[in-house]
Amino acid sequence: MIKLFATMLFFSISVLIVSCANDQEAQIDYALKAASELMEEKSFIDYDPSQLFEYYCGVCHGPTGNADGFNTFNLDPKPLSFQDTLFINNNDSISILGVISDGGDGEKISKMMPPYRRTLTKKERERLTGFILSLSHNGE
Ligand code: HEC
Repeated sequence: MIKLFATMLFFSISVLIVSCANDQEAQIDYALKAASELMEEKSFIDYDPSQLFEYYCGVCHGPTGNADGFNTFNLDPKPLSFQDTLFINNNDSISILGVISDGGDGEKISKMMPPYRRTLTKKERERLTGFILSLSHNGE
């Protein structure tokens, strides 16, 4: 029994040594790269920006960005409807991304607008920015 165990141990150690010699770092790099590509792809396919918006922003901005969320009436100042032309005229995509990332405080507007830099990935925030811009263009 002990002999069998020793043989197995020897076998697994040699497998370990062989795989180390086989440029382990490159293997780890490869696995990490594959995993991150998979995650990017997942977030790209699974998180439709309109669903992200409804989930994270809908309470205050309305599920379709029309400033009719159930918490909207509590806010002062109230968010503008993203379908409003006034909204488009006063905004460009950089400040929208800034507001989403750093919240109202970061962009010197109402602190009731929370920051999402830690909650959402950069890609998600960028996609939300594009989504908001597409809403405002629909309203034109
Ligand atoms: C707790 C309520 C709340 C939530 C949740 C919220 N917001 Fe806001 N948001 C506000 C308020 C209030 C303002 C208006 C600030 C002002 O005009 O001073 C605002 C403003 C904004 C603006 C700037 C609009 C402008 O008039 O320049 C953008 C863009 C925005 N929010 C995007 C989002 C996105 C995207 C989400 C979800 C990821 C979100 N908000 C979630 C309350 C919220």
